[in-house]
Amino acid sequence: MGKIQLKVIIKMKVVVIQGPNLNMLGHREQNIYGPMKLDDIHKQMQGFAEQNGIKIEFFQSNLEGEIVDRLQECMGEANGVIINPAAYTHTSIAIRDAIAAIQIPTIEVHLSNIYQREEFRHTSLVAPVCAGQISGFGPFSYHMAMIAIAQIMNEMKARYEAEQAQQAQQSLQAQ
Ligand code: DQA
Repeated sequence: MGKIQLKVIIKMKVVVIQGPNLNMLGHREQNIYGPMKLDDIHKQMQGFAEQNGIKIEFFQSNLEGEIVDRLQECMGEANGVIINPAAYTHTSIAIRDAIAAIQIPTIEVHLSNIYQREEFRHTSLVAPVCAGQISGFGPFSYHMAMIAIAQIMNEMKARYEAEQAQQAQQSLQAQ
């Protein structure tokens, strides 16, 4: 039994990655993003995580390479990722490749409905490598992402435990 798999059983961990300018929430374009600050969104997510026995860690960067580094660090550390790549959603092949490389279920989140906005926001380069996308519900988008990732991680855990039980059964029968 590998270490990563052992962590699946003991405690689920989600890493939340926030892209450029999301540190300005509460100040920035309130008509689009609302008045809530990033820290307050994170407090709500923390509350959900605690209620559901999930470990959670937050990371924000304005730099593409730092986001790629943080994604890579998730390997062997996290069972789920929630990411709002912000403007990099529409431009970053590097972030898309990192999400594809780590093979950890990842939910893409946007506060605004990117499909109702300027045409350049209608394309998400990361969407095809994410488990799903939630866009347009303001801070509630993050809450929905928590529900989605918890569901995915629970399914992964159940599948893993069923496999373990089956293997144990098979080795008993082989004796
Ligand atoms: C955003 C949408 C992006 O187009 C934009 O560049 C952002 C925020 C959102 O959460 O709605 O910075 O990702």
